[in-house]
Amino acid sequence: MHTLAVAPDLLNESTLAATKTRIEQAIDNVMGSLPKPEELSSEERRGMISRYTSVLEGNFIYWMTAAYLSVRSEDARPIIIDNLLEEVRDSHPAMLRRFAIAADALPTKEDARAVNDELTRARLFFGKLSAVPTLAAMAFFEGFIQRFMAYLADLAVARGSSDLEYTDVHGICDIAHTEGLIQALSAEMALSPLRPDENVYEGVDQLEALVNRIVSGQSNAAAA
Ligand SMILES: [Fe+2]
Repeated sequence: MHTLAVAPDLLNESTLAATKTRIEQAIDNVMGSLPKPEELSSEERRGMISRYTSVLEGNFIYWMTAAYLSVRSEDARPIIIDNLLEEVRDSHPAMLRRFAIAADALPTKEDARAVNDELTRARLFFGKLSAVPTLAAMAFFEGFIQRFMAYLADLAVARGSSDLEYTDVHGICDIAHTEGLIQALSAEMALSPLRPDENVYEGVDQLEALVNRIVSGQSNAAAA
């Protein structure tokens, strides 16, 4: 029997391309589901800004830290460190809080409760510290954030805010961050391929569900 051997590099390249496509599709799905800002009430605009703030302010750095702890590749680490350095040094959580306050959209306990189930599932996923799915999830998150910023800024402006530092900064820097995470993913795939029981898109799916919850608010079941 003749077996056709596939070079590991080639295998990774096609897997990487498929992963990128799947991440981009997930981002397109979320962006395509956004209601038009002008069709939302002021309270609906507030809710979306508040739920976004409730999730991102306290979790983004924690999840990027999970990515740092999960990777083994020496090529992936500096990319994640650069990302974390920028978050901490420029205090992105403080920037996001200013953005929410200026739009009179500081999260309430109802906002925290609305995203709680999806947020908890995402946290448990990151706790697995599985490198490739974690990097795929963070590439999705960075890519989504970058695409979402113009929309988020429109919501804030419609609420009378003029503090757009957070959306301005993230609409630009996250393009490089997304590319960096895809590079890190590539390096990590070569070093620690997925086990058969692992799903590379597990975290992408969890974060897509979380972002959908940020957009839609409390589920009917939870509100009943
Ligand atoms: Fe940030």
